[in-house]
Amino acid sequence: MARIVLGGLRKPKTKILGYDFAGQVDEIGKEVSEFRPGDEVFGTNKGAGGFAEYLCTTQDLLLIKPPNVSFEDAATVPAVGVTALQGLQKHGKLQSGQNVLINGASGGVGTFAVQIAKSLGATVTGVCSTTNLNMVRSIGADEVIDYTKEDFTLKEEKFDLIFDTVAKRSFSDCKPILKSNGRYVTTAFSLGLVLKGKLGRSDKKMISYVANPTKSDLIFLKDLLDAGKIKPVIDRRYTLEQVPDAIRYLEEGHVKGKLVINL
Ligand SMILES: NC(=O)c1ccc[n+]([C@@H]2O[C@H](COP(=O)([O-])OP(=O)(O)OC[C@H]3O[C@@H](n4cnc5c(N)ncnc54)[C@H](OP(=O)(O)O)[C@@H]3O)[C@@H](O)[C@H]2O)c1
Repeated sequence: MARIVLGGLRKPKTKILGYDFAGQVDEIGKEVSEFRPGDEVFGTNKGAGGFAEYLCTTQDLLLIKPPNVSFEDAATVPAVGVTALQGLQKHGKLQSGQNVLINGASGGVGTFAVQIAKSLGATVTGVCSTTNLNMVRSIGADEVIDYTKEDFTLKEEKFDLIFDTVAKRSFSDCKPILKSNGRYVTTAFSLGLVLKGKLGRSDKKMISYVANPTKSDLIFLKDLLDAGKIKPVIDRRYTLEQVPDAIRYLEEGHVKGKLVINL
């Protein structure tokens, strides 16, 4: 479904990939009111054009970059930041004082989810592998679980929300550690999962969703970034020519935080 909606069924609709970007406005169209040439901005283009020296975009998902935030940091935020925010707040209904377990806490969505959940006032348990334990602690997780040594679904503690950013465990696996009326929210999206979530009869809910960036979400994230409440984790940096290497590394499934393409 995501291919049909976003990318093209058999091959990408747009040849230049890349969702998120940060840079300087070069020219504006006649109806652009919010930006001027020279403005330092960041935003998302919903799947097209980010891996390039120039791109043409609309002003609806574009924001002025805070001066104290680097282009690199700003460029990491939109897609995974919005996915994490909507997973926790819109679908997970996370409230201050609740506890959330984030599976895949060391990845792109996960590193943002840990920091956003903390800023929403939640207690955070992050699940990651041994090499990432310190990093996940350093971005604010109250507790970390090493998935190579411990099965988190056997924990005695129960959670208001399980946010599964890597979908390596199922809703059924996680049910025993959800509180009554607790939610399991997963970034894995399929029609089967959506139906399963809607038809489920348990007091515990499963939600599979596709993030839909909005300007208000981006402004929320920008304010957290500006206030230093989220600090992007950047694993590696690449040149534009090295984009295929970056994608290969991403596909191995072990990126810590985000990758950045520098021009
Ligand atoms: N629904 C949506 O709208 C939406 C939006 C964005 C992304 N997504 C999807 O969400 C998923 C996550 O995206 P992402 O950008 O965060 O991915 P990512 O950065 O590539 O995730 C990599 C991370 O996953 C961790 N990981 C791998 N196996 C694990 C396991 N068994 N248990 C716990 N952690 C594990 C890795 O840590 P180790 O190296 O320590 O294993 C690594 O840090 C992807 O499948 C993506 O397609 C969905």
